[in-house]
Amino acid sequence: MAEEAKKLAAYAAVDNHVQNNQAVGVGSGSTIVYAARQLILQHGLSLSDLDRHPELDVAIDGADEVDARLTLIKGGGGCLTQEKIVAGCAKQFVVIADFRKDSKVLGQQWKKGVPIEVIPMAHVPVSRTIVRRFGGVANLRMAVSKAGPVVTDNCNFILDWKFDGAQDWTEVNTAIKMIPGVVETGLFVGMADRAYFGMEDGSV
Ligand code: A5P
Repeated sequence: MAEEAKKLAAYAAVDNHVQNNQAVGVGSGSTIVYAARQLILQHGLSLSDLDRHPELDVAIDGADEVDARLTLIKGGGGCLTQEKIVAGCAKQFVVIADFRKDSKVLGQQWKKGVPIEVIPMAHVPVSRTIVRRFGGVANLRMAVSKAGPVVTDNCNFILDWKFDGAQDWTEVNTAIKMIPGVVETGLFVGMADRAYFGMEDGSV
């Protein structure tokens, strides 16, 4: 059910927002795979990078949660920083998700919290500062194998900040980004232009 919903959202986004000869940014995760496949099949996608294409016509990506104002939580897979860079380079940022990601209050639905990428040596002071200022807990993300902390593509660590209740996302995002040692937050505030949700009944 959820897989079909992801595919429907991805196909709708590509159909409505991608034209030939455009520079398209994509993120990571299980939903964007459907969009990437369609881009390859329909548009003959060829790979590039931001050195050659620093300005993107559109970026398409999945999300962990999306609220009514299109504020997102991303980074369940640990790729938040690179995904935010790509989204920030795009004239239009389109989110694709299945129905489970439609969130009334960010952070409460899945209780996974907000991922925050940090410089490894700073993870303890950053965690303490976030908890002191905003409450909740900010735990170092550990590898499933328990071999140690998860290490991002940028050689950093991830804190998962879990909390109760709603927050002012603009204020929280700005404040956390100002803490020395924070590389990026998984809060995408004011970035997404459009969201497509694949629904259980087959609609989008
Ligand atoms: C990766 O770090 C994330 O930001 C993903 O984009 C997000 O977790 C969505 O993933 P799924 O499409 O697998 O739900």
